Amino acid sequence: MRDFNEHTITQAVVDRFAETPDPRLKAVLTSLVRHLHDFVRDVDLTFEEWQAGIAFLTRTGQTCDQHRQEFILLSDTLGVSMLVDAINHRMPEGATETTVLGPFYVEEAPERPNGADIAGPLEGTPLLVTGSVASADGRPLAGATVDVWHADDDGSYDVQQLDALGGLAGRARFRTDAQGRFHFWTVMPAWYPIPADGPVGEMLNATSRHPNRPAHVHFMIAAPGHETLITHVFASDSPWLESDAVFGVKTSLIADFAEHPAGPAPDGRAMERPFRHLSYDFGLKAA
Ligand code: BEZ
Ligand code: FE
Repeated sequence: MRDFNEHTITQAVVDRFAETPDPRLKAVLTSLVRHLHDFVRDVDLTFEEWQAGIAFLTRTGQTCDQHRQEFILLSDTLGVSMLVDAINHRMPEGATETTVLGPFYVEEAPERPNGADIAGPLEGTPLLVTGSVASADGRPLAGATVDVWHADDDGSYDVQQLDALGGLAGRARFRTDAQGRFHFWTVMPAWYPIPADGPVGEMLNATSRHPNRPAHVHFMIAAPGHETLITHVFASDSPWLESDAVFGVKTSLIADFAEHPAGPAPDGRAMERPFRHLSYDFGLKAA
């Protein structure tokens, strides 16, 4: 076969995958080629545009290192991460909705006892977080691990300022008690821009998009016999809830971070200054 034209080349490439032993790989590649070719035809891609696209993807790869994954950020900002998340996490009644993991999760977060204050050197309004973990059918899950991490009141994560902070802060791992409950203290996180000094930032700029995410606390919750839940809880009074740069906001994940005057906190701590309180109950889907 030869002499392909703009109409016949797609089937020729698809046919070239005919002997692919793995049927799933064959299906994925076939669909990818069909959609890619349709895209090129749809926009009448110029040679200069094709070159610019290759250069953009090359820069995206060159921006990746052990701390930065620009391709995932590109996936996030094009809505692909949340689309994959939606397809793979169709949740039953009673299970908490999922959202993007983001780049700031650290596997080896320190395990802390319930009630601990994880703010360390981070400054800001004190925040009490109380919550529970149950199976989607309502059974409390004792001994579940609850990983939490969040930005500071400037919108930066600890891993973005490790030298200044001298270590991890605003993150920890807790275990639920016999009733499936956990609680900890930290400081109120602020909304923040995703890293926008690379190719993804170029794309956002060129399309007049902002890079901002509404204020949130990340949770990763694991319990035997259940799917690990990766999600955030967003502050209901934060800007950007309607235009999150990575399309991660779901109504069920927005909660009040209630304002309280100085005085006794719900966990008995005597607070000398005003604080905020987030209470959220999580449901895990059975594996
Ligand atoms: C985050 O919430 O930490 C995040 C998620 C996606 C992209 C960048 C940051
Ligand atoms: Fe975040």
